[in-house]
Amino acid sequence: MTATIIDGKAFAAKVREQVAGHVSRLKEEHGITPGLAVVLVGEDPASQVYVRSKGKQAVEVGMNSYEHKLDAETSEADLLALIDQLNNDPAVHGILVQLPLPAHLDSDLVINAIDPAKDVDGFHISNVGLLGTGQKSMVPCTPLGCLMMLRDHHGSLSGMNAVVVGRSNIVGKPMAQLLLGDSCTVTIAHSRTKDLPEVVRRADIVVAAVGRPEMVPGDWIKEGATVIDVGINRIDAPEKGEGKTRLVGDVAFSDASKVAGAITPVPGGVGPMTIACLLANTVTACCRANG
Ligand code: GUN
Repeated sequence: MTATIIDGKAFAAKVREQVAGHVSRLKEEHGITPGLAVVLVGEDPASQVYVRSKGKQAVEVGMNSYEHKLDAETSEADLLALIDQLNNDPAVHGILVQLPLPAHLDSDLVINAIDPAKDVDGFHISNVGLLGTGQKSMVPCTPLGCLMMLRDHHGSLSGMNAVVVGRSNIVGKPMAQLLLGDSCTVTIAHSRTKDLPEVVRRADIVVAAVGRPEMVPGDWIKEGATVIDVGINRIDAPEKGEGKTRLVGDVAFSDASKVAGAITPVPGGVGPMTIACLLANTVTACCRANG
């Protein structure tokens, strides 16, 4: 079997088109332009790339983008003051603080200082609680993007066995909640899970979100399963020349795609969907704020 490639890049382009349509209607009919504020503390190169991309895509769909770059030594008090200012700014409908934060800053404290209605990452404790109890909330962007691709591919997910590998607050836990909400039988597996290969082999849906290059080999995948690879790992690629690197996922794509029914590639799978969902969440926050 050769797996269907789930094209996250094309799917994300469609989502952005829909978002752009909403943005132009909000402007024309209500005179409102959705605004997204992105806060970056420090100079982590990967975070800088993500933040630039978020700002650029926000502008491309017609939103206002407000980038706040603070130096790595910024105090917690200064960061909290900025968040307070953004919470009270009516032009800002979505606030995102790029993670990870430098070690001297308490991420939980900072995230929980964001107005939950503007928390377009869905990381605030109230949004986590709302999602966990099946209530209307802001849904974390990466798991939301994964769910959209799964629904698009399968229609109903009801009754499917889903295994989420990874238990992070950003992806693994909310992903499990979303799959449960769609009536999957959900297992969260992690580094201490016994017989991990056997657990993954039972899955109709595998979501790999561990951040370890190609950690899930092809022979862990059940024939015909759908594989969603959240990992974006940069590894050395001497075959491309000295000092060159390439991106790989958490799944060994080449082998897995011989047995899976469908699989997301890296790059071009989950990654583009994450930012598209961030833009969609910003429009949602803007609509909710304006009744
Ligand atoms: N760092 C890695 N992924 C994310 C994300 O989805 N949101 C934020 N704020 N930081 C991240």
